[in-house]
Parts: sequence; C-alpha cells; structure tokens
Amino acid sequence: MDRSKNAALVDKNDTPDASTILNLLSDSVLAVGEDRTIRYVNYAAEQMFGMGAHHLVGRALDEFISPDNPLFFIIDKSRSESASYSERSVRLDGPRLSERDVSVQVEPWFDGIGTVVVSLHEQTLAQHIDRQLVHRGAARSVTAMASMLAHEVKNPLSGIRGAAQLLEDGVDDAGRELTQLICDEADRIVALVNRMEAFSDERLPERSAVNIHEVLDRVQKIAENGFGRSVTFTASYDPSLPMVHGNRDQLVQIFLNLIKNASEAVPANDGEITLETRYRHGLRLTIPGSGERVDLPIEITVRDNGPGVPEDVQPFLFDPFVTTKKNGTGLGLALVAKLVGDHGGVIDLENDERGAAFKVMLPVDLSPEGRSQ
Ligand SMILES: Nc1ncnc2c1ncn2[C@@H]1O[C@H](COP(=O)(O)OP(=O)(O)O)[C@@H](O)[C@H]1O
Ligand SMILES: [Mg+2]
Repeated sequence: MDRSKNAALVDKNDTPDASTILNLLSDSVLAVGEDRTIRYVNYAAEQMFGMGAHHLVGRALDEFISPDNPLFFIIDKSRSESASYSERSVRLDGPRLSERDVSVQVEPWFDGIGTVVVSLHEQTLAQHIDRQLVHRGAARSVTAMASMLAHEVKNPLSGIRGAAQLLEDGVDDAGRELTQLICDEADRIVALVNRMEAFSDERLPERSAVNIHEVLDRVQKIAENGFGRSVTFTASYDPSLPMVHGNRDQLVQIFLNLIKNASEAVPANDGEITLETRYRHGLRLTIPGSGERVDLPIEITVRDNGPGVPEDVQPFLFDPFVTTKKNGTGLGLALVAKLVGDHGGVIDLENDERGAAFKVMLPVDLSPEGRSQ
C-alpha cells in the first residue's frame, strides 16, 4: 500500500474514511462472527496471516489459528458476557502462522448477531527488552567470576607449568609424558580463563561510526577461511543502511561468535548461512524501570539452516556455561549478550524448523562522521 499517494489525494476538509484509518494501524484488527467466521480484516491482519482480505473474509478463524488457542476462549467469553476482555500475553499459532506473542483486546459489537471486534498487538519488542535485561544480569555475574578466575587461577597456573617444565629434564620418558600432560592441561585452563577475561572488562569501549557491512564481510572472510569452509554464505544487505554507533572489534567478536555457532549447527554438506541487514523504521524501545528510550533501527540477522536451538536450551540461551556441545564452553552467546548490551542494543532469537535466526538490533551513529555516510 502506498501511503504517500493516499495522502496526496485527500482534501483536508474531507472526513477521514474509517477503513483507511484502520489500515494504517500496525495492530491487527478483525471482526469475528458468532461461528468464528472472519467478517473483516484490516491491512495488518492480512499481513499477519500472509493472505488478502478476499481469502480471509467468510472463512473460519480457526482455519488460521489453532482451534484450542486461548484467543477463542477470550472471544467466547466476551461474546457470552457482552463485555470487553483483554489479555496481555497470548501465544498465537496456526498451520500457516509463525508463532508469535500478542496482547489481545476483544470488544463485543452488539450488532445482534454476536460479532466481536478483536485487536491483536504484537509483543515482541517488549519481550526483547525483558529478555535482554535478564541477559545483562547473567553477564554481570560472569564478570565478577571472570576477574576472580584471572587472579586466582591464571597466576598459580603459570607457576605450575614452569615447575613441570623444570622437572622435564630429570625424568625418563614415562615421566616426560606426565610433565607434558601437566603443561597441556595448564595451557587449556589458561585459554579458558583468557576467554572469560573478556567478561571482566567493565570499561565501556570507545565507540564511533562503524560500517556494519565491513564488519560482516570481514567475519565472513574469517569464517570462509576456517571453521566455515564448507558453508555457503549469502549476504543480503541494505546498501543505504546508516553507520552503527559501536566498537569495531567488539562488533567483529559478536558476529564471529554468532556465525561460529551457525556453522556448527548447519548440516555438514549443504550448510547455509545468510547475513541480512535492514533498517527498521520507528523501532524505539523504552527500557522498563529506567524509562530510558533507545532507538535501535539497525537490524542484523544471522540465519542458518540447522535444526534450530533446542527448546529446553532457549530460556537459558544467553547464560554462561549453557552448552549442548561435547567440547562447548557455553561462553559464546553469554559474551555476545554482554557486548550487545554494552552497545545499548538488544539480541533475540527467532527459531523455527527452518533453522535459527539471531537478530541483533543496534543504534545508529548520530555524529557528523556517521551522518556523512
Ligand atoms: N545457530 C544455532 N543453532 C542451534 N543451536 C544453537 C545455535 N547457536 C547456539 N546454539 C545453542 O546454544 C548453545 C550455547 O552456545 P554458545 O554460548 O555459543 O556456547 P557453545 O558454542 O560453546 O556451546 C549451544 O551449545 C547450542 O546448543
Ligand atoms: Mg559457541
């Protein structure tokens, strides 16, 4: 729908047409008859179902939303009690609908034939923030532990390693195998602690205008020459995307971790990873509690064709030490969550049978340097 054209045709003395107004709303609005027949859908509802009004009107709503969905309970209740009902978090699902959480408002129409008006407001943005705040808490607890580990473990380890090397000269082959074992294991622990040290850096990094496409290209190159050698990469970039306000090295780290996980998840032979960028108009979030408003219009998606993140892992996905891999550390996504949080951004997972998609939303650089792009 071309909204700008609409505007040009309207005389300012005309009474605005109600259906035009309804079509401009981003919430889905439906009128549903007594037998669950869809009697009206606005443009947002067409978008949600991925189908035009002429396909939807006259059909039963439970062809599109599972018949046992709580939405129908709310609709029936509103109709039988002739009262308005609302519910904050309802998960919609259906044969052709990707799963989503919405808040629902149902109003009886009083038209004598039991019609109700249903409005559905997508909740994902509020959830991004909720989950993100939880992730920040998790990252903070790792921060304290990381600095403790660095002091209490790394220093004594280098002493142990040095002592084992000294011993090496005075022992036979069997003994040398053991001193080597001590050195190797010490190295392994130091490497682990080093990885955790990234968490203990509490200083906010210097941020400037960063071209996110350069970052993604770089990460793709690193992957193609190493762990992602057998994966097919596809880039789908919005060339007009403004600069991100961020720290280049940390952005590289964020997308390297996401792409590493994606390459580990995809099938060995026909693995595919898609990197997407886009600008989301009007994505403005209020952080609960602080009232702070943030603009995060730059959205980067790392999508893979693996099996998706296992359901039981999802609630703890960004917590440290959560891993399903034999040799995993469970630190990759915890670090990603910390770094994205340091950028004032949010990260979220969209998971379905086609694979996992990690979405990172970041702020635009508003300095003259960023704007000149
Ligand atoms: N792209 C993905 N597809 C499926 N599962 C994933 C993906 N990314 C992460 N995961 C799941 O999240 C877990 C945690 O990831 P991460 O924090 O990077 O630790 P690690 O890679 O060491 O296991 C993984 O073990 C895996 O179960
Ligand atoms: Mg990982």
